[in-house]
Amino acid sequence: MGLYIALEGGEGSGKSSQAKRLARRIDAVLTREPGGTGLGAELRQLLLSPDLPEISARAEALLMAADRAEHMELVVEPALAAGRHVVADRSVYSSLAYQGGARGLGVDAVMAINQFGLKGRLPDKVVLLEADAEVARSRMTSLPDRLEAAGQRFHAAVARTYAELASAEPDRFLVVSANDAFAVVESKIWAAIEPWIAAESIDGNNH
Ligand code: TMP
Repeated sequence: MGLYIALEGGEGSGKSSQAKRLARRIDAVLTREPGGTGLGAELRQLLLSPDLPEISARAEALLMAADRAEHMELVVEPALAAGRHVVADRSVYSSLAYQGGARGLGVDAVMAINQFGLKGRLPDKVVLLEADAEVARSRMTSLPDRLEAAGQRFHAAVARTYAELASAEPDRFLVVSANDAFAVVESKIWAAIEPWIAAESIDGNNH
């Protein structure tokens, strides 16, 4: 079985570039939510479009969960079963932070609607990149998508919920400050992930 690693963080945390770099290092399948499947690409376009008419928080959470169910079934599970590692740019923890925390649906309720599609599988490790709001803003160069445009209070609630999730599951989460230069963040991630991957593969060989 491969290992399932998710990169998480707010907008402008640099997680997509770090996910790419990490996937290359460990020869993992690189994927993302929303959007890692055919259905997901359509859902991503819909969900991030600034032209989407206002939708309810519950519908938003369910559409994210539908993307995730497809992604689990078609990408994550088959890759892990084939012995590949998976590096995912976002996971169910994004839904917990954005829909559960910032939209106010509650972390437990959002986890519950996701379990049907996840079939109990969570990322083995979550790398949470934390960037100060100012640093994050300075990195966002293109026009904001629908969620990026949600406002400062929304994004502060996302960051707060991520921090709570990380402290509730210290073994699953690796929290890295993303305020530093890209290469510094990259080496901090690698310093923590490399020994863990090495230990897991020794452990895996013994079973
Ligand atoms: P990004 O991955 O390019 O940052 O864009 C995805 C956006 O969708 C981002 O604003 C976070 C948001 N999102 C949710 O609100 N819930 C989710 O479950 C996921 C995967 C993403």
